[in-house]
Amino acid sequence: MTKIGVFDSGVGGQAVVDAIKRSIPDADVVYADDKANVPYGNKTPEELKQLVLPILNMLSKQGCDAIVVACNSVTTTIISDLRQKISTPLIGMEPMVKPAAATTETGMIAVCATPATLKSTRYAWLKQQYADGVEVLEPDCSAWPYMIESKQIDHNKIRSRIADVCEAGADVIVLGCTHYHWIEKEIKDIAKEYKTTVIQPEQPVIAQLKRVLGLRP
Ligand code: DGL
Repeated sequence: MTKIGVFDSGVGGQAVVDAIKRSIPDADVVYADDKANVPYGNKTPEELKQLVLPILNMLSKQGCDAIVVACNSVTTTIISDLRQKISTPLIGMEPMVKPAAATTETGMIAVCATPATLKSTRYAWLKQQYADGVEVLEPDCSAWPYMIESKQIDHNKIRSRIADVCEAGADVIVLGCTHYHWIEKEIKDIAKEYKTTVIQPEQPVIAQLKRVLGLRP
């Protein structure tokens, strides 16, 4: 049976596990998190390496055929280092800057992500490569992973951040942190009032996972 490992700091990855199970129901999906150290979004690449490597090693030793790094903060900061150390194929998740920039009609997009992701060189590269000439808003969502992890959702804060970027003219919002998948419906409902689209990478990541595992699309 195909064995898929999924990793995130906390509940973000669980949303991705649910999506994988819906799409590949007969796979054995093993989930590992690091709740003792959540949130990851305010950690340095060095700190992340120390935390993540042992966990991915453990998933690899359990015989996973592929591991989904369901964490934008880890993917954008250290995935190349991890790939050098872990022989199991790693599938990362990163902000969908390319499709957002390709579809915006206003020339303005918003990326909701953690400070670690927003500071990363990979994210800077994505913007430079695919969003040249597009204005990219980066609302402060740094408190959201903890808020979601601890189930203390501040609905007013979410509304105000999302309404702000929509009112500023962003017509595509990128969810660049898997924790935010849990509030995707809430964000979409607010964005809809402004005809703004909300995107996140679960489906393209699952398509890539299937390619790596040699499964039918
Ligand atoms: N869910 C993770 C991400 O996609 C990390 C959130 C956090 O722990 O700060 O970035």
